[in-house]
Amino acid sequence: MNKEVKLRRAIKDDWEKIYKLYNSLSDEDLYLRFFHLYRITEEDAKKIASGGDHITYLAEVDGKVVGEATLHMDGEFSLVVDREYRNLGIGTMLVKQLIEEAKRLGLKVIKFYTLPENTPMIKIGKKLGFKIRFDEDEVYAEMNLREEKEMEVIAD
Ligand SMILES: CC(C)(COP(=O)(O)OP(=O)(O)OC[C@H]1O[C@@H](n2cnc3c(N)ncnc32)[C@H](O)[C@@H]1OP(=O)(O)O)[C@@H](O)C(=O)NCCC(=O)NCCS
Repeated sequence: MNKEVKLRRAIKDDWEKIYKLYNSLSDEDLYLRFFHLYRITEEDAKKIASGGDHITYLAEVDGKVVGEATLHMDGEFSLVVDREYRNLGIGTMLVKQLIEEAKRLGLKVIKFYTLPENTPMIKIGKKLGFKIRFDEDEVYAEMNLREEKEMEVIAD
């Protein structure tokens, strides 16, 4: 894609753009994003945009929000990319950004859950070094963010 993809923290005023992105998603996308089928309300979009107990990053192309990724303080995150902008590396960029954010916040782990058939998400996890556990109907992936520091202490 020739167009520039911009990643930035969501702010309160973004709620309408987030609401628009979510309204453009299929039932399947919503299921993968929330782990159940859910059409978000304007209030939900406002909560996503305003943070507080979570940090949300948006991917924008020409001012249009084409991706959203939210990190919770227990290290769990989830994301979604507009179908028309998939397979361009935006999902990978968003997850990399959340890993940096989690490190900055001093979180111990960063993790996600997904379904075994979600090949793109599993590929992202593997590529970025998450440890992945495959169960029958769920995939759990985590990355320990303190390992390096703990090893440094042991080495001292
Ligand atoms: C998962 C998701 C965010 C990935 O977004 P994306 O912008 O397409 O991700 P990327 O472009 O970084 O691609 C990720 C990898 O999947 C691969 N991929 C994309 N679509 C694929 C497909 N249909 N089959 C196999 N691989 C695919 C890409 O080639 C890429 O592989 P690479 O890293 O080896 O190059 C997006 O598919 C999505 O929004 N899905 C619905 C919601 C969801 O599943 N969220 C995850 C909840 S934890």
